[in-house]
Amino acid sequence: MTAAQDLQLDSLYFGKAEGRDFLGIATLDRHAWRDGHFPERIPDGEHVWRMWVAGAYVFVARDGAQVVGAIVAFPTRQATLFVHKVMVDKRYRGRGIGTRLFDLLLEDVDANVRAACFLTVDPGNNAAVKRYARIGFTEREFVAGYYRDDEDRYVLTRPAAGR
Ligand SMILES: CC(C)(COP(=O)(O)OP(=O)(O)OC[C@H]1O[C@@H](n2cnc3c(N)ncnc32)[C@H](O)[C@@H]1OP(=O)(O)O)[C@@H](O)C(=O)NCCC(=O)NCCS
Repeated sequence: MTAAQDLQLDSLYFGKAEGRDFLGIATLDRHAWRDGHFPERIPDGEHVWRMWVAGAYVFVARDGAQVVGAIVAFPTRQATLFVHKVMVDKRYRGRGIGTRLFDLLLEDVDANVRAACFLTVDPGNNAAVKRYARIGFTEREFVAGYYRDDEDRYVLTRPAAGR
């Protein structure tokens, strides 16, 4: 693993997740949310990461063998794609890895399925809402109690390319 202060993005692997990545992604998922709200509710299990790596849209950043970032989206029955989560190892944040992962996902979607993508975000997270608007998530719907009574969300949608 590279010392964080010496990190060059070019030294990382960015690309589609491979079968062997699912355990590394699940490990990252267990650590990535610890400083946020509801850290115990968010990580997904290894069984579902195994399925997503095999059948959904999963891209990773790897430093050597270690997964240091991941993004996952999966198709819905409405022929849209739900961007479920993006996460970067705490030691690697603020260097463009999250941005690169979004770019990879959206380029792949635009080139291959041309589907609208949506995600949800905490309405109080202005930085994230602005960030997502800049990469095309321009349609916004407020849903009160999206997950629980105390968890409202914006549903942000990026229209399909060329439609
Ligand atoms: C959000 C996250 C993935 C960004 O990864 P990163 O590699 O640090 O991102 P980048 O270096 O490309 O920075 C992108 C910028 O967008 C911001 N950003 C992007 N998505 C964001 C989000 N969901 N919430 C807050 N800020 C976000 C970053 O803070 C940064 O802002 P800055 O340039 O003004 O400093 C990372 O901080 C993380 O894993 N956080 C914990 C998990 C999480 O909250 N995921 C997002 C919700 S699914």
